[in-house]
Amino acid sequence: MDPVTLKLLPKAELHLHIEGTLEPELMLQLAAKNQVALPYADIDEVKAAYQFGSLQDFLDLYYQGMSVLQTAGDFYDLTWAYLERCREEGVVHSEIFFDPQGHTSRGIGVDIAIDGITRALAQAHSEWGLTACLIPCFLRHLSEEDALETWEELQPHLSHFTAVGLDSSELGHPPEKFERVFAKVREAGLKVVAHAGEEGPASYIWGALDLLKADRIDHGVRCLEDAELVERLKAEQIPLTVCPFSNVKLCVFENLQSSNVKSLMDAGLCVTLNSDDPAYFGGYLNQNVLETAAAQGLSDSEVRLLLANSIKASFLPDSEKQRHL
Ligand code: ADE
Ligand code: ZN
Repeated sequence: MDPVTLKLLPKAELHLHIEGTLEPELMLQLAAKNQVALPYADIDEVKAAYQFGSLQDFLDLYYQGMSVLQTAGDFYDLTWAYLERCREEGVVHSEIFFDPQGHTSRGIGVDIAIDGITRALAQAHSEWGLTACLIPCFLRHLSEEDALETWEELQPHLSHFTAVGLDSSELGHPPEKFERVFAKVREAGLKVVAHAGEEGPASYIWGALDLLKADRIDHGVRCLEDAELVERLKAEQIPLTVCPFSNVKLCVFENLQSSNVKSLMDAGLCVTLNSDDPAYFGGYLNQNVLETAAAQGLSDSEVRLLLANSIKASFLPDSEKQRHL
């Protein structure tokens, strides 16, 4: 598909960590403003550091990078820069993750992050009609007790959220660790999403579905290792938010050619494409779509299907979905 056509087609992004949109330029600018020490002298050094052998290699730099975010204005600037990118790319709706514990653990309250992010979302909605959902995620390398405390801290802000997610280091932190806190999330009427089957095994996808009752699976690419799981995902059309550039940068696949996007589609699954942490992985949504389509040999109608899936798999009300389809 040509880039101009892609830009004009309505599409949603469903897997995007706002802290992962922190471009090196803004990171260094905020570090200087807020007097946060970083181990980089300039932008070239930041970019040179972005070589990851695993998810954990990335997460170490991701948590370090977000330490420059100190004020509501910083979160606003971060979010605004991403939303302007959405406008340029024809992203009409975005479901945005943030990591409350990545901020509270260093003394920045959830209210500061939420204030800055939601101000930018409201402005984009009033200026050009972009819709967005905000999705706090629990960090799975921390304890469930920590997640429960965070859930309490989020209570005054629940009206801003559509869902709650689960992210960070996957291996060794299976979904069952968080069964009780996600029961509370569901009781509060919120949707559930969970990273599963990125580095972790297919059994973590089963756990996310059966124990956390996830409405969508983030990544999920390892589902193809389990035929019964593929049948389940297909029968229930549980969406997968696949992130091709991320998977290559984090060595889940060697390159875009060997990614399994086409195989997932051919298996009848509801696949969407997303950028995950675009400032770290080398490209925003449309670049993910264009390069993946080329590498995987996707036809224009397959690309259109991926984009339609992104609208259908969103948490927009049906009437809003219809407007975009
Ligand atoms: N946090 C930010 N990006 C992530 C990813 N790809 N997997 C798990 N946790 C993350
Ligand atoms: Zn992610």
